[in-house]
Parts: sequence; C-alpha cells; structure tokens
Amino acid sequence: MKRERILIIDFGGQYNQLVARRVRECNVYCEIYSYKTDLRKLQEMKPKGIILTGGPSSCYEEGAASCDPALFEMGVPVLGLCYGAQLMMHTLGGRVCKAPVREYGKIEVTTDGKSRLFYHVSEKTVCWMSHNDYIEKAAPGFQIIAHTPDCPVAAAQSEERQLYAIQFHPEVLHTVEGTKMLSNFVYEICGCVGDWKMDTFVENSIRSIRERVGSGKVLCALSGGVDSSVAAVMMAKAVGDQLTCVFVDHGLLRKNEGNEVEEVFGPDGPYKLNFIRVNAQQRFYEKLKGVEEPEQKRKIIGEEFIRVFEEEAQKIGAVDFLVQGTIYPDVVESGLGGESAVIKSHHNVGGLPDYVDFKEIIEPLRDLFKDEVRRAGLELGIPERLVYRQPFPGPGLGIRIVGEVTEEKVRMVQDADAIYREEIAKAGLDKSIGQYFAALTNMRSVGVMGDERTYDYAVALRAVNTIDFMTAETAEIPFDVLVKVMNRVINEVKGINRVLYDLTSKPPGTIEFE
Ligand code: XMP
Repeated sequence: MKRERILIIDFGGQYNQLVARRVRECNVYCEIYSYKTDLRKLQEMKPKGIILTGGPSSCYEEGAASCDPALFEMGVPVLGLCYGAQLMMHTLGGRVCKAPVREYGKIEVTTDGKSRLFYHVSEKTVCWMSHNDYIEKAAPGFQIIAHTPDCPVAAAQSEERQLYAIQFHPEVLHTVEGTKMLSNFVYEICGCVGDWKMDTFVENSIRSIRERVGSGKVLCALSGGVDSSVAAVMMAKAVGDQLTCVFVDHGLLRKNEGNEVEEVFGPDGPYKLNFIRVNAQQRFYEKLKGVEEPEQKRKIIGEEFIRVFEEEAQKIGAVDFLVQGTIYPDVVESGLGGESAVIKSHHNVGGLPDYVDFKEIIEPLRDLFKDEVRRAGLELGIPERLVYRQPFPGPGLGIRIVGEVTEEKVRMVQDADAIYREEIAKAGLDKSIGQYFAALTNMRSVGVMGDERTYDYAVALRAVNTIDFMTAETAEIPFDVLVKVMNRVINEVKGINRVLYDLTSKPPGTIEFE
C-alpha cells in the first residue's frame, strides 16, 4: 500500500519515539531508521521529508554519530532537532561548540522574522531545551529564525534548500507549540496531505490480511491484553472462522479477568471467535512451587505458557499462519528500527513456540504505536474499557508477588488489587494515573485484629505516572483514598494485616514490584 511518509533518522536521543508519535498524531505516517542506514535505502523510500533527531554525542568530536552530507542535497525537506540541528549546521559549515551556559528545561524562545516552520506560532513561545553544545554560528546561507538569551541560534533555516534546524525539542509536551511546529513542517514545508488515519488503516489492513491469508488457517494466542485483543479482532474481521484463538489462563491474572476475557471473546461474546480457553492454573502453580527468584519465575511462566499453547495447537493440527501482537516500539526497541539501545528484555508470555506447525507469522499491528493500537481497537468496535486497560505484564501476578507464588497468595493480591482499583475508579482517578496496582510483599509482621494477634503479609500499593514506561514518577494519591483502601484491604482480605505505599520512582526502582 502506498502512503506518504516521513523518515526519522535516529541519533540515539531519548525522545526519538516521541518525535514519531507526534508526527503520526498529525496524520502523517513515519518510520524510524538508524543514522547508519545507507542513504540510497532512504532515497528509495521516497520520503516527503526527513527529521534528524536528538542524540547524546558532540557532533564536532571524532567518531560522533553522523550522516551522509548528501542527505542535505536530496531535494527533500530536512528538519534537524537538537543534535540533528547541530549536525546539520556543523556539516554545512556553521560552528557548533560547548555552550557557555547549558540550557535545560522550559525556556522562552523568541521567533525572529518569518518562517513557515513557525506559521501561527507565537512570537514568544515556551520550548523544552536540553543541550550542552550550541550553535554558535549558523551555516552560510542560513537565516536565524529564533533565539533565546543564552542561545543565539535557537532555530535557523535555508528556505531555498528546504533545510531547517531547531535547537529545542518540539516533540516534548513542555514545548507548548511543538506539535504546531511539527505539523507546519509536514504540511507547510513537506506538502503532506495527511493520509495516515486509523479508519483507513484498519480497512486497508483487513483487506490485505484477507488477500494474504486466502483460505488458510490462522492461530492466535489471546491474552486479553490490548495488543492481542486488537490483533485477534482484526484477524477475525478479516478471515472469520478460519481463525482460532487460544486463551491460556495461567492463574496469574487479575481478579475475574479470565471470565471477563471469555465473556468478550468467547462463543457468547460479540465477536464469535473460535475460542479455546485452557484452564492451566494448577500447572503453573505446580511449576512455581518453591521458586523465589524473579527472573526464574518469569522464565518458568514464559516457558510453561508456550508448552500449554503448543499442546493446544497440536490438537488443532497444522495451520498456515500464526498471529503475533508485535507493535512498533517492539520493533524499534529490538534494534530493528532506530538507534535506541535495547532497554527492556521483557519476556512476554508468548514468545515463539517451537512445536507449532505453521508456515508464516502475521503481525497486523507491527506499524503501530500503543496509542494507535488503542485507536484501531476503537475503530474495530472493541469496548473502551478493554482498549484503555492499563498495561499488565505477560507473567502477570507472578511478578507482583515477591518470593514464592502460591494459590493463596494469588488470591490475596487479586483481592487487594481489585479493591485498590475500585477505590481509584470511585475517586475518579483511574484515567489520570499511568499505572497502579497492588503487589504482595514477602514480609509478614505482627498485627492485632479484634482482640487477636495476627501474623500476616503486607501488601504494597504502587501508582506511577509515566510517558513511556522507561521512566516514571510516583503518582500522588490523595491520603483519604489511600486510607480507605487500607481499611478495606485489611478488613476484607484474609491474610493481609498491613498496607504500604511505594514511593519509589523509576529509576532507581522499576514499575513492577518483583
Ligand atoms: P518495569 O517493571 O520494567 O515495567 O519498570 C515497565 C512496564 O512494562 C511492564 N512490564 C511488562 N510487560 N511483559 C510485559 O508485557 C513483562 O514481562 C513485563 N514486565 C514489566 C510493566 O507493567 C510496566 O508497564
């Protein structure tokens, strides 16, 4: 399928996926490539424009991340951001050096003169800066179009050559008019029409899946999470009952979750999927007996999941396609897209089964960011409460129980978590907190209940706000809500006599509590 696209050249900066997300929010499709990608390959993709991202290097140092100077002569508009801007200026004969004053945070930028990049942008506008180097002198032929008190070249352009450089980060939300600037770049400068829309994406995907699959048989592992649910419904719309979904209940789901998944995706639900639920709870508890080490638990759960799935698949026999819920950040983070280091090595329940007889993998969400997966889900008619679910790790409650996992502990953490979520929703906070859940610590301590001594577990409440799940701040939950949760948990959940609130941010903590 032919659609216009912007290429984002990744120099290793921390906001690079954000740049791509913002461009897509403007209804323009874009893809991230490493700065090492061959120029010819970039040219063959016939981009409408190119964005060079930020990055950690100093462009004047030997061995710094760089690009083929011919990129600036392709006749395609180029926008350099932060490091990308410095690299453009440095390559084209400007001067970049260590800034006498390092700028970090929100800074008021003054725009000078006229630029299509700043069309409808205020003359004084707050932008997010984060740089040690600065552009001391713009390259010959460039006009300065913005400055700050400490930064003489906050933005520069050569209209004639369609080259634009900005020192700040328009992709970060703190840059108040950043989206407008990116939108100006893609529409006013690159001449995009904006053909990246979720309804057409969904329609086109369904059509091309149908063509690809023909009369083939398709198998999908459904976890009930957002990605696999959207992938399954999209496949079902494309190929109907040629699709079979296998849902493995590993007994480590949130309270009632197994039944909820079955209600929606099971035979009595709206999608009429060929749905197989495998109640493998006891198998997982058995395997997890006596195991305390978190990585080992993850491995056991992941492997057991695959074994259960394979057994089910063998009953079905040979299939033509296996569905994977891969999404674009997985592609980028696994090093196939941009330049980002592999940050997470999360073992999703799933992985690739060895003994399933299939010919090809099909990944219907491979091009989508998480928020786009959600929008695709809504387009497909999946209920909002499922589409806007908070993330839930593949290994489930197995990694929200510190130490050994037992059926009894699963019950405790499920009940405490359900109460916590209920109270958060009642307080109207469920949409504003990034992720929140209860975890069971491995600590028992003495308490008193009625007139009796107790010696029970402590549960930890976790709540964080995050943009990208790579860093996170503790969310501030009103004290009265916390107290209510504490009272209810202690009164209603047998085996818990203490409630703690985890204040740790990430880093140094992680979001999960394992
Ligand atoms: P951490 O704990 O690494 O979590 O700070 C970051 C985000 O990833 C989720 N998470 C997982 N998701 N499989 C998943 O699909 C996993 O193994 C896994 N471990 C953590 C976590 O819930 C948070 O949103």
